[in-house]
Amino acid sequence: MKLMVIGNGGREHAVAWKLSLSSKVDKIFCVPGNAGTKREEKCENINLETIEEIKNFALKEKVDITFVGPEKYLVDGIVDEFKKSGLKIIGPDKNAAKLEGSKVFSKDFMKKYEIPTADYYEFSDFDSAKKYINERKTFPVVIKADGLAAGKGVFICNTKADALDAIDEVMIKKIFQDSGNRIIVEDFLQGKEASVLCITDGENIIPFIPCKDHKQVYNGDKGPNTGGMGVIAPNPYFNPIVAKDFEEIMYKTLEGMKKENINYTGIIFFGVMITEKGSYLLEYNVRMGDPETQALMFIMKSDLCEMFEAATEKNLAGFMPEWENLHVCCVILASQGYPLKFKKGFPVSLNNTGNSKVFFAGVSENNGMIVTSGGRVMAVVSKAETIQKASKEAYLAIKNVNFENKYFRTDIGVNI
Ligand code: AMP
Ligand code: GLY
Repeated sequence: MKLMVIGNGGREHAVAWKLSLSSKVDKIFCVPGNAGTKREEKCENINLETIEEIKNFALKEKVDITFVGPEKYLVDGIVDEFKKSGLKIIGPDKNAAKLEGSKVFSKDFMKKYEIPTADYYEFSDFDSAKKYINERKTFPVVIKADGLAAGKGVFICNTKADALDAIDEVMIKKIFQDSGNRIIVEDFLQGKEASVLCITDGENIIPFIPCKDHKQVYNGDKGPNTGGMGVIAPNPYFNPIVAKDFEEIMYKTLEGMKKENINYTGIIFFGVMITEKGSYLLEYNVRMGDPETQALMFIMKSDLCEMFEAATEKNLAGFMPEWENLHVCCVILASQGYPLKFKKGFPVSLNNTGNSKVFFAGVSENNGMIVTSGGRVMAVVSKAETIQKASKEAYLAIKNVNFENKYFRTDIGVNI
């Protein structure tokens, strides 16, 4: 089979690598791919940008299945375009992508289908939002821009002043342009987070191993939020009670999607907050998580291509993904300064990382030399019988991956 993977991050490198291990797969086009996918077997990087260009290429090359990494293409309707041309693709259509593309849409969906989520109000004009914040008695409060904001659209505001600043930035200064036309103001939930990726064909839904992401940039969950600085799986807080709560969230979501005629084939990501009062859904992402994917692909035993095939044929009933009975630890190597200002263009040296796997993200290639080009540069992933061992291995491997201004958290999988 010929497959195509769209995107250029660590997540896409991990998916392309995992697909390359399938005996069913002959060829993987990575659009545009990165220096990591370029080095994987069966993979070829192809530089295409628009949905039209990508679709025409898939038709010409008779690509069997396309996997879409980034949400932007999904929200822009790549799945609709592919399906119109009879091409198989993993991802939600434009309407379904609103589950991530609009916080107002997703919160209203959760409310309608009685999915536990933080209480909230929505506002489309600044004066009403300001009045509400001024009259609100309890803080912290969480302010969310409605539309896509490259993962930066959520503000946890500890004081009234912070909340007023946040609505000013989003609704008046329009730092996320039209994504800030509407906002959600919701209660702050205290707890431990879990990321659960599931695969669905619209009729069936199957959860993957629950992950724990580490969103903040510094040890001990301090500092600004990032795309994710490391992941461990299974999530140690995901006990059987949480699993039961989650099942309810998951099945209510599937039922809701069916009732709303939401057309979903692919991966749906549930961001869950585990609190003392039960588990609540924070958000949906209509894509795989980054770096959750890097961790999960490394311990998935099943053939990912077969799973994608089953999903596109609406044949997931009875499909049980298999996982290695191990713990996995993924540590992100970032550029010092990320998620704010950082320098780039430093050469990367990679020595033997043993049984660990390195997935590339923010790197580019200059005359055959790999140099840093982004905030999250790469992910180092290790697996072992215990999370402590997996973590130790990952940190040993990191010593063999070097570049100037290398920064990473040193507490991923430590003291669990
Ligand atoms: P979201 O994009 O909605 O997942 O928000 C990004 C991050 O903000 C989440 O992963 C949480 O860390 C945090 N967050 C979002 N909503 C809440 C909430 N209601 N209470 C506490 N933290 C939240
Ligand atoms: N790691 C969280 C995300 O991909 O949104």
